Amino acid sequence: MKNKGLILITGATGYIGSHTVVELINAGYDVVGVDNFYNSTAKVLDGIKKIVGFNIKFEEIDCSDYKAFENVFVKYPDIVGAIHFAACKAVGESIEKPLLYYRNNIVSLLNLIDLINKKAKQPNIVFSSSCTVYGQPAKKYLPIPETAPLIKSPSPYGKSKQMAEDILSDSIVAFPKLKVCALRYFNPIGAHPTAYIGELPNGVPMNLVPFITQTAAGIRDHLNVFGDDYNTPDGSCIRDYIYVVDLAKAHVKALDKLLGEESAAEKTVVKKTVVAKDSPYPAAEASGRWFVYNLGTGKGLSVLQLVKGFIKATGVKLNYVIAPRRTGDVEQVWADPSKAKKELGWKAATPIGEVLKSAWKWQQTLPKQ
Ligand code: UD1
Repeated sequence: MKNKGLILITGATGYIGSHTVVELINAGYDVVGVDNFYNSTAKVLDGIKKIVGFNIKFEEIDCSDYKAFENVFVKYPDIVGAIHFAACKAVGESIEKPLLYYRNNIVSLLNLIDLINKKAKQPNIVFSSSCTVYGQPAKKYLPIPETAPLIKSPSPYGKSKQMAEDILSDSIVAFPKLKVCALRYFNPIGAHPTAYIGELPNGVPMNLVPFITQTAAGIRDHLNVFGDDYNTPDGSCIRDYIYVVDLAKAHVKALDKLLGEESAAEKTVVKKTVVAKDSPYPAAEASGRWFVYNLGTGKGLSVLQLVKGFIKATGVKLNYVIAPRRTGDVEQVWADPSKAKKELGWKAATPIGEVLKSAWKWQQTLPKQ
């Protein structure tokens, strides 16, 4: 297989990072991973090795440490692109520790943009953004397209994603070779089909699926369904749950696009750059080097539908109770992923039952405490 070039993955041992490393290697990219293990462990590297068959290039560094990060670029002068996952992602924690979030999520990005422009062979960045930039969209924007208004987030986590998009779009204007693809993830779930890698929550999980699988495994007594009095068909919140492996594959497509490796059909899709009306990033969009895509399935599922889907897919019993609403939750959001399909040739393909089975298979490999 042709080697498509060396890609730097920050947050390579994290949940989405590790799955993306595997898909990049499957697609013919060479990879150097970095992580500081703040929210992951070195064992993830063993899981990746079991899947791909070799030890990936890896450096244990903190991307907010400029000097340490610079050394990675010096050691690997052939980098042609970076995928920037390294960031903190718990909404509640971000309210208690805003400086941690701004330092980790913003300083590391500033360092990456500076270093990739100065030191890399080609300055291409794929950025991990989030549907959190949309806040609670008005009903007329559901399913939500990339052109929907961005609403200022109440949490430092959400604001850090919005600021990061601002910083990247301003940088596009200032650095004429820089190309950026911001990927707005909806709710990633599931684990690699081998169950060698998956989501590793630190302590009590905040996210729904790890809480479900830990409850099913008997580690938690019951799942709290946060609210059944929302204005939705069954009263629980609606999200767009996307399989982490499908999501990882979208990163391959995004890099292919930035590097001109996409298929001939996809190359012809975007004939001329159109700046969307009311775009928050008109100058970046006009450059033709700035791309934003929603990554979701296009289908909203309620918390109760997901819980019932898990029981059906796995045949495992799950204790759950209806609990009060969780502060800060949006009621409903799901993606219009048609732009990613049209321009990247990417679509979430895995049925939800299979995704939930993969999460359960992964949970069963973890310690029972
Ligand atoms: C939010 C952000 C997402 C971000 C993620 C990081 C939005 C719309 N989404 O995801 O961009 O990447 O945080 O963590 O802002 N739930 C329960 N019981 C539980 C846990 C969750 O009922 O024990 C419910 C929640 O109320 C929510 C749904 O499950 O309705 C999903 O929650 P979660 O997995 O935490 O993700 P979001 O909050 O949607």
